[in-house]
Amino acid sequence: MTLMPKKAHESLVQMTELVLPNDTNTFGNLMGGRLMYWMDIAAALACMKHCAAPVVTASVDNISFENPIKLGNVVHIEAIVTRAFTTSIEVHMKVWGEDPVLQYRYKSNEAFMTFVALDPNGKSVPYRR
Ligand SMILES: CC(C)(COP(=O)(O)OP(=O)(O)OC[C@H]1O[C@@H](n2cnc3c(N)ncnc32)[C@H](O)[C@@H]1OP(=O)(O)O)[C@@H](O)C(=O)NCCC(=O)NCCS
Repeated sequence: MTLMPKKAHESLVQMTELVLPNDTNTFGNLMGGRLMYWMDIAAALACMKHCAAPVVTASVDNISFENPIKLGNVVHIEAIVTRAFTTSIEVHMKVWGEDPVLQYRYKSNEAFMTFVALDPNGKSVPYRR
């Protein structure tokens, strides 16, 4: 199976979540692990839009949490495929928090992740270059 080239914008995924009590740490802010879980899903969905195949997370680059996202605030995640290598796919993510009452957004973090598309036999899938 060979994957067809696509435009980056075709892979765009916009995910919105509400921070509920079960998502928070003891300071009442969104737990980093929960945010990474949502980022992983958004990135995987962007990759699957790109390559129309199941993908696995190969690696995650540095994630630094610039601003905490508070309980009751909204999380916005944008994921887009930025580059396809031979069998691996790079995704860029931007994350914002939003106060839904005061209606302002603030940046939380951004990150790159790498995914690999697998065929039904679990083998990585090459692209047509
Ligand atoms: C990622 C995985 C498919 C790579 O398989 P592999 O047999 O090592 O395959 P290859 O060595 O041919 O690498 C395939 C591609 O993945 C890339 N890759 C492998 N490990 C990587 C890593 N740690 N970071 C970034 N890219 C990686 C390779 O560079 C290669 O990319 P390219 O073909 O575009 O050059 C395999 O290691 C795997 O299944 N890992 C577990 C994935 C998983 O369970 N993720 C959930 C998180 S727990």
